[in-house]
Amino acid sequence: MTPLESRHVPILTREVLEYLGCKPGGIYIDATLGGGGHAKMLLNASAPDGFLIGIDRDPDALKIARETLKDFGERVKLVRGNFSEMKQICSSEHIAKVDGILMDLGMSSNQLEQGHRGFSFRTPEDPLDMRMDGSAPLTAADILNTFPQEEIRDILFQLGEERWAAAIAREIIETRKVTPFRQVKDLVSAIKRAIPAKARHRRRHMATKTFQALRIFVNQELEALKEGLHAGLSLLAPRGRMLVISFHSLEDRVVKQTFRKAEKDPGIFGAEEFRILTRKPIQPSKNETRRNPRARSAKLRAIERE
Ligand SMILES: C[S@@+](CC[C@H](N)C(=O)[O-])C[C@H]1O[C@@H](n2cnc3c(N)ncnc32)[C@H](O)[C@@H]1O
Repeated sequence: MTPLESRHVPILTREVLEYLGCKPGGIYIDATLGGGGHAKMLLNASAPDGFLIGIDRDPDALKIARETLKDFGERVKLVRGNFSEMKQICSSEHIAKVDGILMDLGMSSNQLEQGHRGFSFRTPEDPLDMRMDGSAPLTAADILNTFPQEEIRDILFQLGEERWAAAIAREIIETRKVTPFRQVKDLVSAIKRAIPAKARHRRRHMATKTFQALRIFVNQELEALKEGLHAGLSLLAPRGRMLVISFHSLEDRVVKQTFRKAEKDPGIFGAEEFRILTRKPIQPSKNETRRNPRARSAKLRAIERE
C-alpha cells in the first residue's frame, strides 16, 4: 500500500447509498472527505454527471482523496476547509442548493495510524499535537502544560465523560511540575498513575476517554458540528437529504437535537418542512463490526427537506 492509498474502510456503505439516494445530475457534498471512500461511492452512484464537493480540514486527507478520486475529473471539486464553512464553500463554487450531504464524523484510520499527531494512545512516540488542521491555535500538549487543573478536569469530564477526570487532572498538574508533556506516552503514563489499578481493566483502554476529550477540545469539534449541521440543512434543495454518522454520545445528541429542531421549526433553515428518516439511528450489522471494529460505535441519522 502506498502512502497515498487510503487505509480507511468506509462505514455503513449500503445504508449511506440507500438513504442518500444519489441520482445522475445531482449535486452532493461529502463534508468529511477523509480517504475519499464514501465520496467515490457517491460519484459512482450519481454517474455519469453527478457533481461532488469534498471538504476536509486535514491537508493530508485531501492528498489521499485526490488520489482515490483522480478518475472523476471535473465531476469533483476538493476543498480544504472546515465543514462549518460549507455555505461559503458552496457559494464560491456558485452552488446555492444541493441534493445530498454526508458527514462521517471523527477521525479516519489514515489519521489514527499514520498521522503522527498523537490522536491515538497506541502510538507512544508521537507528539501530543492532536490538531486535524495544523493552523488551530492550541495543541494537546499546550493544554496539558498550561491550563489550570479545574479546566483540565472539566474538559475530561464533559467531553470524555471520564469518571476519573479529577484524579487524572491532579496527576497531570503534579507531572508537569517535574517534566512537561511532549509525547503520547507521557500522557498514557500519567493516566495510568491516576486511575486505581482495579479500575484500569475495563472493556476499553483506560486512556480512550481522555484522548477523545482532548481531541474534541483541540479541534472544537462540537462547535464545528453545530455550525456544520445548520449550514448543511439550509443548503438542502427540496427532497435533498442530509446524513450524519457519529461515533460518540455527545455528537449523536447534537445531531438528534438539531434534526428535531429542523422538523419543529423548519423556517430557521429557510425551509417549509423537514422529515426525519431515521426515528432510531441506524447501526452497523454484527457482520460489519466483525470486519471493521471501528464501526462498532457508529450511528447514522438521516433527514429530508420536503
Ligand atoms: C471518519 S473520517 C471520513 C472518512 C471518509 N468518509 C472515507 O470514506 O474515507 C472523518 C474526516 O473528517 C475530517 N473532519 C473532521 N472534522 C471536520 C470539520 N469540522 N471540517 C472538515 N473536515 C473535518 C477529518 O479530518 C477526517 O478526515
